Amino acid sequence: MTILVTGGAGFIGSHFARLKVKQQKRVVVLDKLTYAGNLENLDEITKDSSKSQYFKFCKGDICDRPLVEKIVKEEKVNVIVNFAADSHVDRSIMNADSFIDTDIKGTYILLEAAKENNIEKFIQISTDEVYGSIESGSFKESDVLHPRNPYSASKAGAELLTNAYWVTHKVPVIITRSCNNYGPNQYPEKLMSLFVTNAIEDKALPVYGDGKQIRDWLHVEDNCAAVDFLLENGKQGEVYNISAGNECTNIEITNIILDELKKPKSLIKNVEDRVGHDRRYSIDCSKLRSLGWKPGINHEDGIRSTIKWYVENQDWWSKIKTGEFLKYYEEQYDNRTTNLSSFA
Ligand code: NAD
Ligand code: TYD
Repeated sequence: MTILVTGGAGFIGSHFARLKVKQQKRVVVLDKLTYAGNLENLDEITKDSSKSQYFKFCKGDICDRPLVEKIVKEEKVNVIVNFAADSHVDRSIMNADSFIDTDIKGTYILLEAAKENNIEKFIQISTDEVYGSIESGSFKESDVLHPRNPYSASKAGAELLTNAYWVTHKVPVIITRSCNNYGPNQYPEKLMSLFVTNAIEDKALPVYGDGKQIRDWLHVEDNCAAVDFLLENGKQGEVYNISAGNECTNIEITNIILDELKKPKSLIKNVEDRVGHDRRYSIDCSKLRSLGWKPGINHEDGIRSTIKWYVENQDWWSKIKTGEFLKYYEEQYDNRTTNLSSFA
């Protein structure tokens, strides 16, 4: 069996590629190596010949139809797991072009390749953000999608296409909607990775608005284990929420990070809120749990070990936090009222 893992040089995709190679499954990663793609995330495989025999890396764009066709045919791909995406809400607010291209058109190209080549399983990695914000209670898979920012709208578009290829062409799809992931190798622009690395460097932690927005946190290895579980046990044409039920406010997460690193609360900087900021994400994971899956990582242990990873792997992130990363932050905060000079 050969699994095509798109976006496999990114945060979650690289953890999934490592998991499958560890199981001695043949993995082909297709990744464009955007700002978020990092070949070092695959070192554990590529620098170990006992693992690299199961692995191939192709640099390329999922929107490149001839390339996708060639890889699927020549590598005899049976399974596609589509992690490739532009994934950061703030970037989608500044410019959504690449979100529309990769998240929607790229998914279409992959679905076409799956249709033409009798792919046995197609997993579309989606997000809880497609539901939009919820004040109380939790979204179930059957609820109406109500994405509220360009990122989540592009992911919802991809989902609708994925479902259409199931209904119309019987491409054997499964859609996963995971909550916010955290863990090693996350590009330091998301809440957890940005705040941990900023705190280590004694830089400000920019909390948007009142910081009382709620996210549901899941360790990346638990998400990958759930996707893997669904490869075996998921039903074609179905959607599955993935969550460990760890809802926290952003300020709670911020305080945990500062306490764990023994850094002062004065590093917290309240900045202007994100436009269209979703207040609370919450999903009901009982459908997946009823199949027998459960998370393996305790929330506190997961956060503690993640912080430790960033402390011990400063080499991995410190070189990322220069150049393009700083340019992005300068652009992002240009229009904000708060003076963030100490942040960059
Ligand atoms: P990431 O931004 O870390 O990685 C994305 C990867 O996709 C990068 O390696 C990038 O180079 C690659 N890529 C981007 N455009 C591409 C293209 N056109 N062709 C080929 N490769 C391309 O993202 P992540 O956090 O690992 O997220 C992976 C997936 O999981 C995404 O689909 C995202 O929507 C979804 N998801 C993420 C989270 C989260 O908390 N991070 C939560 C739920 C769902
Ligand atoms: P993020 O990690 O961008 O994930 P998402 O918006 O996709 O859930 O943000 C998580 C939460 O943290 C979200 O409510 C926005 C907030 N946030 C900040 O307060 N400051 C920041 O610098 C970032 C990146 C996020």
